[in-house]
Amino acid sequence: MTSHRPAAVVIMAAGMGTRMKSAIPKMLHEIGGRSLVGHVLVASRALDPEHLVVVVGSGRDLVEAHLKALDPDVKTAVQEQQLGTGDAVRAGLSAVPQDFDGSVIVTSGDVPLLEAETLHELVADHDKQGNAVTVLTAHVPDPTGYGRIITGADGSFEAIVEHKDASPEQRLVDEINAGIYVFDAATLRDGLSRLTTDNAQGELYLTDVIGIAKGDGKRVGAHVTPDAMQTEGVNDRIQLAQLGAELNRRTLTRHMREGVTVVDPNTTWVDQTVELARDVTLLPNTQLHGTTTVEAGATIGPDTTLTNVTIGAGATIVRTHGSDAEIGAGASVGPFAYLRPGTKLGVKGKIGTFVETKNSTIGDGAKVPHLTYAGDATIGEGANIGAGTIFANYDGVAKHPTHVGKHSFIGSNSVIVAPRTIADGAYLAAGTALTEDVGPGEIAVARGRQRNIKGWVARKRAGTKTAAAAEAAQAQADAGTSGEQQ
Ligand code: UD1
Ligand code: MG
Repeated sequence: MTSHRPAAVVIMAAGMGTRMKSAIPKMLHEIGGRSLVGHVLVASRALDPEHLVVVVGSGRDLVEAHLKALDPDVKTAVQEQQLGTGDAVRAGLSAVPQDFDGSVIVTSGDVPLLEAETLHELVADHDKQGNAVTVLTAHVPDPTGYGRIITGADGSFEAIVEHKDASPEQRLVDEINAGIYVFDAATLRDGLSRLTTDNAQGELYLTDVIGIAKGDGKRVGAHVTPDAMQTEGVNDRIQLAQLGAELNRRTLTRHMREGVTVVDPNTTWVDQTVELARDVTLLPNTQLHGTTTVEAGATIGPDTTLTNVTIGAGATIVRTHGSDAEIGAGASVGPFAYLRPGTKLGVKGKIGTFVETKNSTIGDGAKVPHLTYAGDATIGEGANIGAGTIFANYDGVAKHPTHVGKHSFIGSNSVIVAPRTIADGAYLAAGTALTEDVGPGEIAVARGRQRNIKGWVARKRAGTKTAAAAEAAQAQADAGTSGEQQ
């Protein structure tokens, strides 16, 4: 992609986004796991420009901090007042050296489906046509609101006329200005210096640079993209949802082409940043976010939401909610598991039903199958944690760790009062409330000793159905015993 390397990309992102009716700037709203401006930034960066500038204005502190976190090399330029797209690009150019040559791409921060490939084709076409300006255009079913591409009798590019400035005849044109351009740097600088606000909106229109260039006898042209969706902007929450759904469809299609089974694309949501290997199966109502990666042959879902989770080959994750966790190859999780940050499950390990884990490492082949809370625990390989075990990690002031050794067995319904160490090859008797450490080969039994009080029901519950049942059972037992003796 470097053969048509642009000198600069300017992303206009200073607009208010009033129609979002939001406390946060429009550019920071997300689809597919990335902010709107983040999508455009990623596509722009792929062209490897010498300078990458984002023009910020509304909510600039938030937007700037977000951009720096995404891409430390990005430059920002402030447009104090939103005086129009021409003014935005003027502001953008103030952040780069004033005299460079080459191509400048201008785009908007709110066109999240725009792909690097399309920008690349635009620049290549610009170079091939030998233009001073090339405009990305598309044919759309409803061109209302967009600038229209006006062509001459010979079909050549004439001008862009804004919707509000257009005649009824011009409004019938369905080829629109996508708001994405390549300019020769000198032509852009010169045009920007000559803009006026003589138009229906009293703004400095970037599009007027094209008329100025043409008036000077320079070559200007259009590059039509067949994929109009890539040029669509987000102005309100309805478009946010529509473009979010379209992006998701595109992401799932890409994965399916690469060998992922998506049983129900309508209820499966996968962020752009997620990586899926071949023969992964996603069952209905699965959502994969952030840096989640899934290795070959794993099955996720149904009804599973995972954020920043890595999943080994052949693992199975059923009806689970998890974040910042690592699941080993061949492991099994769920149904109904809650994996909180810092959960690490080893190869062929198991986190089963109604189990919550947090900051816990569960070794290879170890099993936590049912009804457990494991917080701040290290569980050795091959250990087995009985149903209903609670790792009591919090004393009301601080969190404490527990270590369970290899191949140890924790009896059901035990509570381990941390900090505690249970050695390799040890046992806890069921129902233990553990307050001392346990050595190798030992069994800890920490519970009330059982005593059975004979005749209690007859004395304390005389005349009840329970007493009658006890009496009958006793008689049968006595008869059986005497029968055996014969
Ligand atoms: C612009 C184009 C129009 C095109 C449309 C495509 C002009 C005059 N018109 O119109 O031909 O069809 O985009 O969507 O350029 N922005 C700033 N500062 C400003 C004004 C805008 O940063 O002062 C940013 C906005 O945040 C947005 C982008 O520039 O990201 C486009 O601005 P917008 O107001 O949406 O332009 P349109 O009027 O839609
Ligand atoms: Mg717009």
